[in-house]
Amino acid sequence: MKKNKISKNWIIRQKRDIFVRQSKIEGYRSRAIYKLKEIDEKFKIFKNTTSIIDLGAAPGSWSQYIIRQYKKSLVLAIDLLDFEHIDKVNKIVGDFTKSENKEKIKNFFDKKVDVVISDMAVNTTGNKNLDAIVTGELCIEAMEFAIEMLNKKGKFVSKIFMGSSFNEIVADAKKKFREVNIFKPLSSRKDSKESFIICKFLR
Ligand SMILES: C[S@@+](CC[C@H](N)C(=O)[O-])C[C@H]1O[C@@H](n2cnc3c(N)ncnc32)[C@H](O)[C@@H]1O
Repeated sequence: MKKNKISKNWIIRQKRDIFVRQSKIEGYRSRAIYKLKEIDEKFKIFKNTTSIIDLGAAPGSWSQYIIRQYKKSLVLAIDLLDFEHIDKVNKIVGDFTKSENKEKIKNFFDKKVDVVISDMAVNTTGNKNLDAIVTGELCIEAMEFAIEMLNKKGKFVSKIFMGSSFNEIVADAKKKFREVNIFKPLSSRKDSKESFIICKFLR
């Protein structure tokens, strides 16, 4: 399909999408909020938590959700792209995979944290298998970092694509966490290979 046809279809789809409309009404920056909301309502991610790292945070709807619902949270959000400030959310603009940015995150908290969430994804290429591989690599790196950063009761949530690395990621997660679930929220588009991995309690 030609590029301008794809973007035209994208605009039509956005206008029809109830989650896009709902996010505008509620003042959220992205329809992605409803994925985190569904995950939180089902798996109680933020219950009794304060310190939270949001990887791949731009434009910021996940951080907006956390700070609105859990007002005492200490949130550090990082993204390659700069995004508009969110009151009470701390921000790093940069590549999460770079060691200097991981150091910045570690120094910010100076102790183990309660939750690491990652919605990181690269710009889609149109090749769903390739997108799944690259997003899988981001998920693996986010999980390794989460294992380093989380306290024993910590929780890790990440976008994961159905693809070649899926089984390996789930198997690794089960070795490191006591509870591992895969969940596709209703608000995640049906034609997307995206799901979420929800991990609780380090072994
Ligand atoms: C689907 S969007 C996140 C949406 C966000 N959860 C929200 O609610 O607004 C994915 C984001 O991952 C970011 N990203 C991809 N690779 C990254 C990396 N290596 N480091 C930091 N952010 C990254 C992209 O820049 C993009 O903004």
